Amino acid sequence: MTSDALVASNVACLTQEIDWFAQVLALRIKLYFKQETGHCHINQLASPDLSVHTEAAYAKAVEEHQLSNEQRLIIMLALAPALVPNLLDNLFIRNPEIDRPYSEFGGVAGSTQGSFMPSVETALFVLAGDDLATRIKVSTLLEAGSPLLSCGIVDKKIHLQKNEGGPLGDAAIVINDHFRQLFTRGQSPKLDHSSNFPAKLITTNLDWAHLVLAKKTANEVDKLVLWGKHADLIMNDWGLQRTLKPGYRALFYGPPGTGKTLTATLLGQQCDSDVYRIDLSAVVSKYIGETEKNLENLFKQAQNKNWILFFDEADALFGKRSSGSSSNDRHSNQEIAYLLQRIEDFPGMVILATNLKANVDEAFARRFQSMIFFPLPDETQRLELWQYSLNERLQPEQTDKLKDIAKRFELSGGAITNVVRYAALCAVQRESDYIQYHDLEQGAVKELRKEGKMV
Ligand SMILES: Nc1ncnc2c1ncn2[C@@H]1O[C@H](COP(=O)(O)OP(=O)(O)OP(=O)(O)O)[C@@H](O)[C@H]1O
Ligand SMILES: [Mg+2]
Repeated sequence: MTSDALVASNVACLTQEIDWFAQVLALRIKLYFKQETGHCHINQLASPDLSVHTEAAYAKAVEEHQLSNEQRLIIMLALAPALVPNLLDNLFIRNPEIDRPYSEFGGVAGSTQGSFMPSVETALFVLAGDDLATRIKVSTLLEAGSPLLSCGIVDKKIHLQKNEGGPLGDAAIVINDHFRQLFTRGQSPKLDHSSNFPAKLITTNLDWAHLVLAKKTANEVDKLVLWGKHADLIMNDWGLQRTLKPGYRALFYGPPGTGKTLTATLLGQQCDSDVYRIDLSAVVSKYIGETEKNLENLFKQAQNKNWILFFDEADALFGKRSSGSSSNDRHSNQEIAYLLQRIEDFPGMVILATNLKANVDEAFARRFQSMIFFPLPDETQRLELWQYSLNERLQPEQTDKLKDIAKRFELSGGAITNVVRYAALCAVQRESDYIQYHDLEQGAVKELRKEGKMV
């Protein structure tokens, strides 16, 4: 699809959605002022069917994150100032009795004079009016760790504003830059304008409670969370910046599918930081001056943004530096040395992931504060992984058999999700709402074969 066509499909989709939001807003205001209207509840205004917008980034996100009507309206509210600047004007009117804006409508002053930026209070007003039960329900949609925040669409800064004092209701709701641009232009913002920018924001629908780790691994990961949350205290308030090198460098190693990428992503959620994934194999293999500039730029930006940098497939950095004497080899060794230095000097959190710890040389290992092994899950952990991955879709009378599956098949978390996908397809094919034990068994055998562990 050309980028013009992509923008056109985004526009078609957003137009429908924002029209719906505008109707909801108008109805809410009428209901609030007890004006004549044909409806008595905003739920009576049907939300648009987004399934027709197959290419639109917004429709895809709604589908992917299974967003409810309330969550969709919150996103539209937050996007409204950018999409239709005068749409929220009605919320600006003053209450004639006290000659002040209606505090019920919330809102904070925007950067341009006179613009209205919706706050959490505005969302409560639009979605709940003065219905207390609905207000409580809606406010949970914007809590720390709620799906809208953890999938990254609503900027997590909302809670930082709250910490600066004042209730959450006063915090502005802002759509994360990445998603704002994705929904409109169809492209995530490049942190740099060149085409081969090496980093990508990563997010997940899962949350910390889903992470199934061996005890030792979990303990080590907890240290990273502590650092993420308290680095400032340790370095600045305690004055340890004189002795400790700033930042934190961790290496995650272990077999494929054991949760390294997931853990890095969830660390971002825990520490309220965005996580950028840099695919090192791509960077190093086509390492050219341009990429070096981009990386430099990335490090600079990341430094003051509290980002976590996640270098995936980091093997390229380790072990035998090529000993060739061609100018290419020398060039690539220099680049690697430069990258290592840059990683070492970075004042934020850097995580590297690899499948092959054997290659990590000692000199390199010394520069890491944590080296965390992600083993394959044991039987108990596999059972937990099956349970959350299946999300109660296993034929109810067969749930006992899950223990047996967990015991028999030595699969990683990643392989388990593959089996669940396969089994779900089998269920759909059978026109059943439930996955059968037998489908899991078949899928598990297929996975083991893929790994060459079973013939
Ligand atoms: N320890 C775990 N806890 C919970 N879910 C897991 C775990 N390990 C894997 N999964 C599931 O498998 C998926 C893939 O895992 P992930 O991508 O984190 O593995 P990885 O270790 O990064 O693998 P690779 O080395 O191939 O990059 C996750 O998104 C999650 O659904
Ligand atoms: Mg990974």
